[in-house]
Amino acid sequence: MKLLAGNSNPPLAKAVADYLEIPLVKASVKRFADEEIFVEVHENVRGQDMFVLQSTSYPANDNMMELLIMIDALRRASAKRITAVVPYFGYARQDRKPGPRTPISAKLVANLITQAGADRVLTMDLHAGQIQGFFDIPTDNLWAAPVMAADIQARYDTDKITIVSPDVGGVVRARSLAKRLDNAPLAIVDKRRERAGESEVMNIIGEVEDRVCILVDDIVDSGGTLCNAAAAMREQGAKQVMAYCTHGVLSGAAEARIDKSDLTELVVTDSIMHEDIKDDGKIRRLTIAPLFGEAISRIADESSVSSLFD
Ligand code: R5P
Repeated sequence: MKLLAGNSNPPLAKAVADYLEIPLVKASVKRFADEEIFVEVHENVRGQDMFVLQSTSYPANDNMMELLIMIDALRRASAKRITAVVPYFGYARQDRKPGPRTPISAKLVANLITQAGADRVLTMDLHAGQIQGFFDIPTDNLWAAPVMAADIQARYDTDKITIVSPDVGGVVRARSLAKRLDNAPLAIVDKRRERAGESEVMNIIGEVEDRVCILVDDIVDSGGTLCNAAAAMREQGAKQVMAYCTHGVLSGAAEARIDKSDLTELVVTDSIMHEDIKDDGKIRRLTIAPLFGEAISRIADESSVSSLFD
């Protein structure tokens, strides 16, 4: 087994390599003057079980292209099997046609990864579980829930917490985390525009008064969803509001918005690298390196990955 990393998240790649006690494959990923990407693998990979780690996070298109080119280089170098390890699968929110003449880009990206030569995919908390079916190759979709649950149990009294889904679409994810926390009660934020042109009303289904509320989501991008939900919950008497999100996309002014919000803390995983997040702000990171390291090791050994979540 060998592990090759792109440029999207070197600290995570190193942590996964350390977990597996293997060095990263020596390779260089360069840019030509016109920004074309060139990949060169500097060691023999013939007949190897190759894992290529690359999140397709910002800059999404460059990181995606780098992943495709790395897979192509490995295929042409006669690797025996290639697993695309994509902790954050970008374009996942484009998983259906929102209107006529629009693309389903998540499917296109799945096709590109497959056509480049990947034999399997390892990812985490896909925006929608069905995206697994966009691939016609085996796809393991890990969950950050056990990592989050362990962190929550170490910090909060589970009798006092309520797990909250910030929208109706996230209920399954929130329920699965609540189950791991002694079946903590669940609440749901239901955003509704009563009439066209009127501002959105936040209805909260479930009890949040005097509760320590933990919002759970797969992605935090602008931070708008979480900050608005936190404000609505505080208005309804929540004692404290925290958020746990797998993928910290954190575009634009997200960090500043979160720092100014009613959230006490936002916890994200290191599926996406951010070098510029302040240490004294409200955002804290959890590592998913051991989870990915263990999943890679099990795939290489042909042993069960799902039992990681029993
Ligand atoms: C939407 O369905 C996702 O699960 C997230 O809630 C959304 O992407 C978060 O975006 P933002 O932080 O920009 O509100």
